Amino acid sequence: VNVDNSREQIALERHSPPRLIIRNSQSRILRTGNATVRRVSVFGLGYVGLATALCLANKGHLVTGIDSDERRVRQLDQGIAPFFEPKIESYLKRAIDEEYFRVTNDSSSNAESDLAYVCVGTPTKHGGGIDLSFIESAAEDIGISLRKREAYQLIVIKSTVTPGTASNVVRPILERESGKTCPTGFGLCSNPEFLREGHAIQDTEVPDRIIIGSADMNAATKLERFYSEYYGAGLAPVIMTRHENAELIKYANNAFLATKVSFINTIANIAERIPGADVTTVAKAIGLDKRIAPEFLRAGIGFGGSCLPKDLSALMAFGEEVGYNTRLLAEVQAVNREQISKPITYLKHKLNTLKGKKIAILGLAFKPETDDLREAPSISIINDLVKEEAQVTVYDPRAEMIAKSIFGSQIAYATSARESLRAANGAVLVTEWEEFTHLTPQDFLELMEDPIVFDGRRLLEPGRMREAKLQFDAIGLGRESFPVAKY
Ligand SMILES: NC(=O)c1ccc[n+]([C@@H]2O[C@H](COP(=O)([O-])OP(=O)(O)OC[C@H]3O[C@@H](n4cnc5c(N)ncnc54)[C@H](O)[C@@H]3O)[C@@H](O)[C@H]2O)c1
Repeated sequence: VNVDNSREQIALERHSPPRLIIRNSQSRILRTGNATVRRVSVFGLGYVGLATALCLANKGHLVTGIDSDERRVRQLDQGIAPFFEPKIESYLKRAIDEEYFRVTNDSSSNAESDLAYVCVGTPTKHGGGIDLSFIESAAEDIGISLRKREAYQLIVIKSTVTPGTASNVVRPILERESGKTCPTGFGLCSNPEFLREGHAIQDTEVPDRIIIGSADMNAATKLERFYSEYYGAGLAPVIMTRHENAELIKYANNAFLATKVSFINTIANIAERIPGADVTTVAKAIGLDKRIAPEFLRAGIGFGGSCLPKDLSALMAFGEEVGYNTRLLAEVQAVNREQISKPITYLKHKLNTLKGKKIAILGLAFKPETDDLREAPSISIINDLVKEEAQVTVYDPRAEMIAKSIFGSQIAYATSARESLRAANGAVLVTEWEEFTHLTPQDFLELMEDPIVFDGRRLLEPGRMREAKLQFDAIGLGRESFPVAKY
């Protein structure tokens, strides 16, 4: 059994065959096994970092989460997840109780780790490129902490960064601050993350594939072995390549997904102009073609979130930097912008003016099972409604707190979907939360002043809605008769 830097509370007891027994500080046996326990640091405890840290802790590794946000550290230390994400809270409580996970803002504790993950944010900066300041400061902190460490450490970049960042930005900072050289003093790998918010734990535990980029075969092999042991027979296909390819793979992946969304939205816009047509049937049919695949073919009011919009603009800015005009991606972005504006155009068309009109917004999060509002279409829809002096009432099962910090008293907050519909002159379904599928035509008819409903996510059953004589329209749903409403 191989345990580096054994901690006080770890007892190694030898059996035949060798067996690892981990006890906590009260000598209670926490876990037994025959895997190698590693000490791991995770810099940045957002969606990616926290999911990574907790899944590693869940497998018995000793994880130190390092975040520069003191409030986040305090919350996590008390077992409170800083955002809503399925399974995160139970994993967090268990990992803290069992002492597999500790949280700090002291980056010097990284000196004790064999492996350090960089999961800090890479937000968009002016002009569309990425702001590398968090990456640079994390690299500085890691470098400084390594001055005191004699043993080798493997540093793994999970944050999404443009090609060249590992080799030209991170490595020089690490070498300068640590006084060591790569690859002898430390190893460096790019290991982009593909998890989906709302499925962060599940995707970390069962990834589709693992990408390992490095300039050094030894570092890449060490990381591959670590994952082989972690996943065992469930190991996903591993692609080992150069840093630059690994970095580009992540952008290509998200740009392709964004393209798929804008593509189906283009078909939706055509379908809307064909009486009786419905994009959902078209999407289902083309998704059955193995070359196309069904995911990301849901037409709607556009993609949002912390990744797709940001990664698309970063790739476009990077393309420009290296002398290529990414015009395809510019159109993907333009189609998305147009989709987001559709509910406002629709409501204006139906109600003539939005001034003083009561509008219900069903769903705020950029997608279900998260409370993340970063780049959520709801934000721009609400801002436009407020500008038009509409009275907005919103309901989201998870994102109300965050919405309050953005919109404050400019809008009203309902505690249920039905409550938000009361006396409304129009309603827009913005996020496809499962609970909205329980809304019946009767709910809209009885609760709303004017039963004008726009389904921006194709969640409600159009046949039922239209039969009930609601004024019902939806993305990609052909009008019942010509002439096509121009919105
Ligand atoms: N959110 C996703 O679904 C997702 C999926 C795949 C990849 N990514 C990428 O992963 C990276 C992280 O994304 P996220 O959504 O988890 O970010 P996030 O914004 O939710 O969290 C980032 C965390 O890093 C902390 N931080 C910033 N600078 C730090 C430093 N120097 N030292 C320690 N902590 C620091 C912040 O306080 C914050 O808690 C980004 O590059 C993102 O593009 C995100």
